[in-house]
Amino acid sequence: MKHQRIVVSRHGGPEVLEPITEEAPQPRAGEARVRVLCAGVSAYDLMFRRSGVLPGTPRVPFTPGEDVVGTVDALGEGVVDLEPGQLVAGATFCLGVGGGYAEYVCMPSKEWVVVPPGVDPADAACIVVNYLTAYMAMHTTARIRGSERVLVHGAAGGVGSALLDLGRLAGLEAYGTASTGNQEFVASLGATPIDYRREDFVERVRQLVPGGVDVVFDPIGGARQLWRSYRALGRDGRLVWFGVAASKDRGLRVIPLTLVMRGLLTVWPGRRRILSTGDLGADNRWYRDTLGELLDLLAAKKLTPAIAERVPLRQAARAHALLERGGVAGKIVLVRDG
Ligand SMILES: NC(=O)c1ccc[n+]([C@@H]2O[C@H](COP(=O)([O-])OP(=O)(O)OC[C@H]3O[C@@H](n4cnc5c(N)ncnc54)[C@H](OP(=O)(O)O)[C@@H]3O)[C@@H](O)[C@H]2O)c1
Repeated sequence: MKHQRIVVSRHGGPEVLEPITEEAPQPRAGEARVRVLCAGVSAYDLMFRRSGVLPGTPRVPFTPGEDVVGTVDALGEGVVDLEPGQLVAGATFCLGVGGGYAEYVCMPSKEWVVVPPGVDPADAACIVVNYLTAYMAMHTTARIRGSERVLVHGAAGGVGSALLDLGRLAGLEAYGTASTGNQEFVASLGATPIDYRREDFVERVRQLVPGGVDVVFDPIGGARQLWRSYRALGRDGRLVWFGVAASKDRGLRVIPLTLVMRGLLTVWPGRRRILSTGDLGADNRWYRDTLGELLDLLAAKKLTPAIAERVPLRQAARAHALLERGGVAGKIVLVRDG
């Protein structure tokens, strides 16, 4: 049986994403093959597509995509925990980087989590890496307590909108930075929007919360950005740094500068702390339990993922161009062609 897969044939702009047709992968012992219905598009996919020098980038040609949702289609020898036809979701961490922009994906059965009935596959695709990241940042790293005040950077993005959704559920008071066109969108997610392009977010936070916020979630990175996020904190505040979205405009030099500033802030006197999130795929039990819990919350309609646009798999290049242009509200999801 043939299937289609999108490959990054060389590093570059969205145009380097090309569909190829090849034999569909066969599940090995312990694996389940999934007929992909939806795959998430993330800032990471763009970073790995653009440059080969980013640590962890796979060699070209490779297939991006970390969030996969689809139906179990074939089982390798020894798989007893899944059945053909079940709707499952999974992150492709075990495949290295990516692998999700494809019509069929094989992974060990322990990487797939059954999606409860009634859930839209595209909503489930939003939940996988974005909500796992947001959950880890909020509950494992920051250990937030109800009614704390938090500032979420990149609040209209995939992870940012997930942080606001989980924050609403946890009873937090949220402030979110976003570009001008996404101010209303951030407000619709229950946060007070701050226009990072037109306002000084430190000043704005200090006006809104004179003592400073309890937690800042920063997926933007950059030395100046981290320093300013730190200044937006109250006396015992925690700054959770977990990404370098700033590299989109400022290039990869942002990464070492961010690491130097993180080191400085770690030893900076005072009670404020800088923390980083851990590896989402390191502990399979945590991954399965947390993803299962998040999918249950989704099925119970306690979470509302924001889908910016559903784009056919074959138009993955258009999806990347949209995310690269900026101003996207929520997550772009690739959907099966026909
Ligand atoms: N550690 C982990 O496990 C993990 C997992 C997933 C993602 N991440 C990190 O999280 C970051 C975001 O990923 P994503 O998939 O959510 O990306 P995304 O959907 O592209 O969202 C990024 C958002 O950041 C906004 N933004 C850009 N520069 C900003 C600034 N200076 N201040 C405030 N907002 C700014 C963008 O808004 P505009 O386009 O409107 O400007 C966009 O809404 C990535 O850089 C990635 O490194 C980390």
